[in-house]
Amino acid sequence: MSARENRMMEPLLNRLAAEYGVIEHPDLVRRAPALARSLPEGLLEFLVHYRTAEPSAVCLISGLDVDGERLGPTPEHWRGSQYDSPALPQEVFFLLCASVLGDVFGWATQQDGRLMHDVLPIKGHENYEIGSNSLQHLSWHTEDAFHPCRGDYVALMCLKNPDSVETLVCDAGDLDWSALDVDALFESLFTQMPDNSHLPDNADLSTGDPVTDRLRSRSFELIRSWNEEPLPRPVLFGDRAAPYMALDPYHMQTSGWPARATGAFLGLCEEIERRMHGIGLAPGDCVFLDNFRAVHGRKSFRPRYDGSDRWLKRLNITRNLRGSRAWRRTPDDRIIY
Ligand SMILES: [Fe+2]
Repeated sequence: MSARENRMMEPLLNRLAAEYGVIEHPDLVRRAPALARSLPEGLLEFLVHYRTAEPSAVCLISGLDVDGERLGPTPEHWRGSQYDSPALPQEVFFLLCASVLGDVFGWATQQDGRLMHDVLPIKGHENYEIGSNSLQHLSWHTEDAFHPCRGDYVALMCLKNPDSVETLVCDAGDLDWSALDVDALFESLFTQMPDNSHLPDNADLSTGDPVTDRLRSRSFELIRSWNEEPLPRPVLFGDRAAPYMALDPYHMQTSGWPARATGAFLGLCEEIERRMHGIGLAPGDCVFLDNFRAVHGRKSFRPRYDGSDRWLKRLNITRNLRGSRAWRRTPDDRIIY
């Protein structure tokens, strides 16, 4: 985003922020794909090329104006931080870019069913395996690897990153597939458990709406059953010469797998670790990770808890909203129950 492009976008972003007041507004989300046509032409073409040609598993858009003064302190928790957001114009920009790649969606079981999440260090989570941890690194993973409705992309927008803490990424295109047992990894032999961010311990017990509460408790029940009896499925899929991946090793247990499957899986994990690299996101950076072709994590860091902490926004994006129709209440509902 050049200075000229920022000036060009500013009136629209401010107008939409004033009109809707919160990024979760259903009318704003519904209009986003049409409004996205107002993005700079070069940026639009860049995003469309990324989606269709898959030249990389990482798409980084830099240079969006972020006024650090206006942001104020980093919230202490994600709960309620969608209201009166000082970053709403930037959130709208992020939503419009995401809407070029597909449809944004959320999970009833994650961050109280919000579409746009906050990624920030939370007191008490320092050594827990979740995105809001800090002293412990966040193990690399496919986003929501356990769920059949997982997104095609997971996107992060950086508002603050004072210590340049690196997001870790490995692109499937960088792996030496000839050295791996690809055929074994295409077999439905690998069990994947849900990750901690979907557990009821990290949610409010009641949303105040009985229908939502009933659907959400059904969702939590499903998560519990997948934890107790994970379904075997493949780790790789798509083209055997250039496979897509879905794995979250921290939430997998290799016990009970055939020896060949275990060997193939450990070989893949080692190769991924060898090719992992860091991206130090800066304020105004929006990164769109291809969730079929990249796994991601984060290095550990010391949280500050003084209002200046690392602060990102996160979106999940699907190219096939209809694929999750059985999991959503209405055709244009974006929340998976
Ligand atoms: Fe993640």
